[in-house]
Amino acid sequence: MKIVLSNEGLASVAADWLVIPVSGSKPLNDPLLQKFDRTLGGVLAAHIKDESFEGKRGSSLHISMSGRSGAVRAKQVLLVGLGDNVSEAAVRVLGVKAGRTAATQNSLAVVAPSTDPALLRALTDGIGTGSYQFTRYLTGNRVPKKQLSKATVLLERKPSAEQKHAVDEGAIIADAVNFARDLVNSPPNDLTATKLAQLAKARSAQARIDCKIWDKKGIEKLGMPLFLAVNRGSYEEPRFIHMTYKPKSAPAGTPRVVFVGKGLTFDSGGLCLKPAASMLDMKCDMAGAATTIATIIAAAELQLPVEVHALVGSTDNMTGSNAYRPGDVFPTRDGKTVEIINTDAEGRLVLADVLTYARELEPHYLIDHATLTGACTVALGSYRAGLFSNDERLLDAYRQAGETTGEQLWPLPLDEDLRDELKSSIADLKHTGSRLGGAITAALFLREFVGNTRWAHLDIAGPAFLEKTQASMPKGGTGFGVLTALQFLRGLPKRRSSSA
Ligand code: BES
Ligand code: MN
Ligand code: ZN
Repeated sequence: MKIVLSNEGLASVAADWLVIPVSGSKPLNDPLLQKFDRTLGGVLAAHIKDESFEGKRGSSLHISMSGRSGAVRAKQVLLVGLGDNVSEAAVRVLGVKAGRTAATQNSLAVVAPSTDPALLRALTDGIGTGSYQFTRYLTGNRVPKKQLSKATVLLERKPSAEQKHAVDEGAIIADAVNFARDLVNSPPNDLTATKLAQLAKARSAQARIDCKIWDKKGIEKLGMPLFLAVNRGSYEEPRFIHMTYKPKSAPAGTPRVVFVGKGLTFDSGGLCLKPAASMLDMKCDMAGAATTIATIIAAAELQLPVEVHALVGSTDNMTGSNAYRPGDVFPTRDGKTVEIINTDAEGRLVLADVLTYARELEPHYLIDHATLTGACTVALGSYRAGLFSNDERLLDAYRQAGETTGEQLWPLPLDEDLRDELKSSIADLKHTGSRLGGAITAALFLREFVGNTRWAHLDIAGPAFLEKTQASMPKGGTGFGVLTALQFLRGLPKRRSSSA
């Protein structure tokens, strides 16, 4: 979709939908609204009074313009309440609402609630992600007749170069988030590890970044025995993906951030088979990989002044005759041995070897995204990710980034008391604890492989994939984490220089 910035007057905007934000508690006192109302011949004020529309944050009022052509060439007008707080997150919600409303029409115009570039960027990425639809597997009359192809963000004055740039950035970000969603929504018979690697490679070429891929033999040589243990029951080959983005100019002190994503294209549970109902959505078990890949692509296209790596271990977790078993013991890339307890706790095994590889890149920050535990959704619900870190300042920075974007995170503790649950009598470690504190013992297991690296782990089992649309997140794959990861990267150079 094309998203452009324009200062053409309201009367000349031809769009299927025109979205006008309303701030404050008395819409009729809003000077911007008054101005539009004059353009529209008093229609807005009349509707606002009729419907007692108060412009509360999240509320909206739909006004059909049919039969009223002349005043404005928009077919439908939507007033959206912004509340008093014009934050980045609130403006993003406005964009999503506008995008969603017009998703199955051709064109949309949105009045910018602010001229601030950061807010214009958020409005734009909101429009782009709001209009997302996954239609690739539909045929015949199930194919939507129309889809949003052009959105215009309206400013009063001629847009500056900086403002135009912000809108271009918003479009890049939306594209990346939607790419992550496409990957998550793709069915597991199509999106195998091989296919995921191919897609990562193709996107890397477009973004002009490096992308190395290892096949099964390559991974054997590289030395990732725990990762390969998970692949044993599978007909499909595993893939290890390493993408690298280096900014054009990298002065000394340029931060290096390594992202790691869990890339289970399908999780049957292995021999410790999941019940059918829990297995149904397990194509989403590569959401961490999708977030990781989308983040580095956007970081490169935005030319952020940070070195970024994206690492993905990808396979499915199946029950073939060579499948790994409870009771098996495997070595790790790190050298430690691990006793397998439950083959459905496969994600942490793949991540252990990939985190070890990540550590070898000597990152300033190591961030993993993983749909790791059902326990995390029991603790926090479906809309919030669990955030773990071995570094207070990294934890704060990431929380702050989430606060800014509106993606919900919550810190969970790496309780030393629970570490005892990972003690094995025959190997260095076992890989699961009891049912209690399951998200924490999973994180503690990962921590064994990161050494002294500053590390954060996001358990996105809840918000990565949703049964129904919720707030700004769509049903199905959400691309959760991309926005916050980009926000975190954006804040890094500043943070490092101020802490030096
Ligand atoms: N992929 C699942 C976690 C998951 C559950 C993701 C629900 C998304 C929605 C993970 O591999 C898993 O099966 N974890 C087990 C761990 C247990 C066996 C220790 C779980 O959470 O039950
Ligand atoms: Mn599992
Ligand atoms: Zn899994």
